[in-house]
Amino acid sequence: MKPTNSPKTYRVKSFGCQMNVYDGERMAEMLGEQGIVPAPEGEDADLVVLNTCHIREKAAEKVYSDIGRISKAGAEAGKQPLIAVAGCVAQAEGEEIMKRSPAVSMVVGPQAYHRLPEMLDKAVKGERATDTDMPAIAKFAALPERRRTNPASFLTIQEGCDKFCTYCVVPYTRGAEISRPYSDLVIEAKKLVDAGAKEITLLGQNVSAWSGENDKGHKVGLAGLIRDLAKVEGLARIRYTTSHPADMDDDLIAAHGDTPKLMPFLHLPVQAGSDRVLKAMNRSHTAESYLRLLERFRAARADLALSGDFIVGFPGESDAEFEETLALVDEVEYAQAFSFKYSPRPGTPAATMDDQIAREVMDERLQRLQAALNRDQMAFNHASVGKTCEVLVERKGKHPGQWLGKSPWLQSVWFEGDAAIGDLVQVELVEAGPNSLAGKLCEMAVV
Ligand code: SAH
Ligand code: SF4
Ligand code: F3S
Repeated sequence: MKPTNSPKTYRVKSFGCQMNVYDGERMAEMLGEQGIVPAPEGEDADLVVLNTCHIREKAAEKVYSDIGRISKAGAEAGKQPLIAVAGCVAQAEGEEIMKRSPAVSMVVGPQAYHRLPEMLDKAVKGERATDTDMPAIAKFAALPERRRTNPASFLTIQEGCDKFCTYCVVPYTRGAEISRPYSDLVIEAKKLVDAGAKEITLLGQNVSAWSGENDKGHKVGLAGLIRDLAKVEGLARIRYTTSHPADMDDDLIAAHGDTPKLMPFLHLPVQAGSDRVLKAMNRSHTAESYLRLLERFRAARADLALSGDFIVGFPGESDAEFEETLALVDEVEYAQAFSFKYSPRPGTPAATMDDQIAREVMDERLQRLQAALNRDQMAFNHASVGKTCEVLVERKGKHPGQWLGKSPWLQSVWFEGDAAIGDLVQVELVEAGPNSLAGKLCEMAVV
């Protein structure tokens, strides 16, 4: 690679889960410390960071098409940007990316991105560098303080996964389960609030597995952390994602009833409704134990909105077993959910299982599942019409004078009137659509 001038502008593109969004923000902050500024909208950046996702084949392939597109645009403009590949594809396919894509000068895994500035120094000299080390938690201590934030911000409290569901790459790309220390999280939450955050979503691949020692030296779980963060002045809302049914304890269920700042929303992936399939997936719950768990959450917080993740077409899934997934959906009535076709991931046990399901069968199952999920989402939104609730204003809407925010149940709500980004306002929900609701701003705005 030829030496280049030091980059003056950057663009970080994050794919995949919210943890990647969080990592992308922290990389951006770090590049900011180096005096590099975000590239203006519509202009090419001198440095592009592709913060990638490896969860499904399509997500992983995207990185190569993006690299191709960026270098083609660079060639046409007569100026090649520096390209860094970060995230889970970097971790899983680091060497392959370097071989396949000469335009890439840096490959950095999700646990090593605090070393991006050093890699950048090398890249400017024309050297290529790969860093996919997984030092336990070192990165957080090495990152600059939080500066940038949105009214609704993310805070990663836990990383990695020890669950080894047989279809999933996360334990390989993100490593073992690790909890960040309690005091670091309280400090970071306060920094986010000082910078304007009103809502914080606590993140982890298995966020409910978080544990730590509080300032009095007592062992606390996620519920304890949530209750303490609820004491942070200026913080109005707390959410958490993603949980695993195996780690949900009584205290967390109780927190949904006794901590008003904890929003009435639970994302709890189930993946399938058949116990045989769940076992083959190495999920430690059954359909029945999952349903009983939800009942306990609903008993603690009657208006709890539920969300989940589903995979259709796991190897060996029969028609009858798929019907069990539909039956579970009918029973739960999710407020929203994510559903995917099974995608074989290299190195995972399920990828080499017998009875891989034909694409057409998966297509058909996904369609049926999504029709059921959409029906329930629409019904949930319809049932919200007439309610007055608090909305956190996150951005401007498409039309002048229009604002977009989130209800406590994580619905997108748009309304018109006198408001600003970061306001918490009372809105009457007046009309439901499949993906959002129209609201009417109430006279008294509470900030
Ligand atoms: N830690 C979370 C979510 C991990 S990834 C959990 O345990 O549920 C987000 C979702 O992607 C998963 O819940 C699952 O539904 C889906 N997913 C993971 N691996 C997949 C694969 N190989 N094919 C299709 N979907 C997958
Ligand atoms: Fe993947 Fe399962 Fe871990 Fe979730 S719990 S990240 S699906 S291995
Ligand atoms: Fe994707 Fe990695 Fe998140 S594989 S879903 S970016 S943990």
